[in-house]
Amino acid sequence: MIENIPRNTISAIFSQALHEGLIREEDTAVLFHDFNYLASRIAYLKSCFPSDTLHGLAIKSNPLLRILEFTRTMGTCVEAATVGEVTLAMRTGYSPNQVIFDSPVKTEADLRFALELGVHMNCDNLTELNRVDSLLKNITSNSTIGIRINPQIGVGAILESSVAGKYSKFGVPVNTMRRELEDAFANYPWLTGVHLHVGSQGCAMEMLVNGVGVLYDFVCEVNQKRTAKGEQPVAIFDIGGGLPISYSYQQRPPRMEDYVAALRERAPGLFDSSGHRAQGTGLRAQGSESSSPRHHGTMAPRQNGETGEVSWRLITEFGRWVFVNSGFTVSRVEYVKRDPGINTAMIHVGADLFVRECLNPTDWKHEYSILDSQGKLKKGLDDQPYNIAGPLCFAGDILAKGIPLPKVEEGDWLVIHDTGGYTFSMWSRYNSRQTPRILGWFEGTFSVLKERESLEDLVGFWE
Ligand SMILES: Cc1ncc(COP(=O)(O)O)c(C=O)c1O
Repeated sequence: MIENIPRNTISAIFSQALHEGLIREEDTAVLFHDFNYLASRIAYLKSCFPSDTLHGLAIKSNPLLRILEFTRTMGTCVEAATVGEVTLAMRTGYSPNQVIFDSPVKTEADLRFALELGVHMNCDNLTELNRVDSLLKNITSNSTIGIRINPQIGVGAILESSVAGKYSKFGVPVNTMRRELEDAFANYPWLTGVHLHVGSQGCAMEMLVNGVGVLYDFVCEVNQKRTAKGEQPVAIFDIGGGLPISYSYQQRPPRMEDYVAALRERAPGLFDSSGHRAQGTGLRAQGSESSSPRHHGTMAPRQNGETGEVSWRLITEFGRWVFVNSGFTVSRVEYVKRDPGINTAMIHVGADLFVRECLNPTDWKHEYSILDSQGKLKKGLDDQPYNIAGPLCFAGDILAKGIPLPKVEEGDWLVIHDTGGYTFSMWSRYNSRQTPRILGWFEGTFSVLKERESLEDLVGFWE
């Protein structure tokens, strides 16, 4: 599995787009998505986990409808962080039992909406569980329900995306609120799932494994008590996302197959093939044969016959790992300023498309390449490094500082690599720039995934 799309491939795809007239004068910046690469990534992900694992791709990383339609045809599920994202999933053909709804701040209306629709829902806190309990007295729901638990195993290298420290705004902490959690599992028989997410990028594979291990141990204890009382065990185990990826040709991120092997060693029960049955969980991977009834109260996972084993339903929520490396962004270089000691390439995307990179450049970096006006890769290095500056009206609108690049000239194209996720989904409206054209490339053919925003649509946003 290649990690980062090679520079030559990017140059070839871009040149083809230019040649086919897909980059018009007004397309000062264009985003590209390589569907061949995306498909290979998803196929590899699926091959690493047991076949009935539900892969709930994190919509927040890439909510483009054409992308969601494509990932659905590849048999994935989706993770939705808001009612808006649930709606995107429904619009692109996902069925409710292929949606994992995780919003950290759900209103009463959000909870009702999710329960009536029948999605799998992870509650964030104990008060939310109480609200769900009250609602379930009046709603017949097909939903399965879990609780997000913070395994409190520490933070990774990037603080703003680490969510498993002693304190986190997400979930219920497993150590400091253990009694309350045990009570919740004792009081709510409909609570049959657990959910964790340790962090995004910046967390070593060992941390992610440790988080799953801590939660697995806790759930095994809960299940002992439940089965002793003849109650349904907890059997939906959502491990979240977070496996880091490579943002440069030099980085060697952990391999998905090694992650799964380490999880299997730490929490073997979750991977016990005899326990991997779809029955009773209500959740469904596309193409799965399960047709189990999904009524509230009877849909909860069951014990495996006389052995007492749990039929685990494993869920993943990868976003970055699936999407980021499959896309890149190209902007025309409008001007080059040559100051003593530093050049500045002035381009057409900045903190509007690269919020994290501009505000926290230490933690968020990309590879860059320079293509000439015809899309040919430029080689060599200029004698001064470059700042890459966006078009917005604030001094922090600088994507990267002091980057060694080939000699950059007006009319060249600057490539920002690995922008297939957490890029367009984080678009900021500051300064009212039009969103760029977005192209998909599949088996040598382009399609427009999203048109460049018109001035009329832009005005409409502020209406
Ligand atoms: C609850 C949850 N699940 C999944 C993800 C996806 O994480 P990643 O894109 O790092 O795989 C996130 C990211 O913030 C998240 O908050």
